[in-house]
Amino acid sequence: TWTMVNIVDEQVERIRAQVGTKRVICGLSGGVDSAVAGALVQRAVGNQLTCVFVDHGLLRKGEAEQVEKDFVAATGVSLKVVDAQERFLSALAGVSDPEEKRKIIGREFIRVFEQAAREVVAEGGAAGDEVEFLVQGTLYPDVVESGGGTGTANIKSHHNVGGLPEDLQFTLVEPLRELFKDEVRRVGEELGLPSEMVWRQPFPGPGLGIRIIGEVTRERLDVLREADAIARQELTRAGLDRDIWQCPVVLLANVRSVGVQGDGRTYGHPVVLRPVSSEDAMTADWSRLPYDVLATISNRITNEVREINRVTLDVTSKPPGTIEWE
Ligand code: XMP
Repeated sequence: TWTMVNIVDEQVERIRAQVGTKRVICGLSGGVDSAVAGALVQRAVGNQLTCVFVDHGLLRKGEAEQVEKDFVAATGVSLKVVDAQERFLSALAGVSDPEEKRKIIGREFIRVFEQAAREVVAEGGAAGDEVEFLVQGTLYPDVVESGGGTGTANIKSHHNVGGLPEDLQFTLVEPLRELFKDEVRRVGEELGLPSEMVWRQPFPGPGLGIRIIGEVTRERLDVLREADAIARQELTRAGLDRDIWQCPVVLLANVRSVGVQGDGRTYGHPVVLRPVSSEDAMTADWSRLPYDVLATISNRITNEVREINRVTLDVTSKPPGTIEWE
């Protein structure tokens, strides 16, 4: 539409004025905000931008590929991918406590991103001068929440990068600072990003790591990824994506129950479906999903994911329950 074209043009001009001929780094998380912010900067300064994507192995099915293939195809951006799956798995080995998991994931993320940023800086560049700017997908509600300051230095903690070291000082480029989420999505569409990426529901930075109750292992991640993909597919097929805020699928890896599948007794794990409706995630209500959609999700998960023999529904509002289980 008109307005979106205007917003894009205006932001492109502003980014050019701010950045000049300097180089820029943008961390991609797989989420909407960083993708749209990166795509805007790419449109503005082209190959002065390098995007960095840390694959921590805690993403949903298809998300890493979406960043590595579809985002690159749509934007032509120069992307540095760091495969850090092993590193995150070993750091998480033996850990079940939710806060400890979050701390570990946040810490490892900073270390890996920092290292990648150093490499981008060290690689120097044909395009533009030194790296001086860091893109952040800060939205208007984030600005209001944090008191309105504009900054240099560090990345929002809920994006799991608590701060960069003193010797890696960047000035922030925040092209989404005046936008709400729905506007960001429309800008993303205007920029030609894949619609699965643009309409993606919120997903926590620590990813599937905090949707496995108990220790995070590669096998459990694979099981949860399959179950989550089925739930998302069926919600999309039923046309419910824009009606619900999000629907975490949680693997109760420490619980087993008896079941019967095929001609035998099973002793598998349950998953919990946590569909919620919300305006801003501060409060939420559980979504009254149609029974036939729930039935299809349940049938498919128990048929297609061998390790799961029971599907349960979380009917708790927030408060008292949070949206995520950890
Ligand atoms: P809770 O579980 O606190 O979640 O009700 C509220 C919203 O925030 C998301 N969430 C996170 N997002 N990093 C994020 O970027 C995190 O560590 C994190 N924890 C929760 C959650 O998915 C929901 O949308």
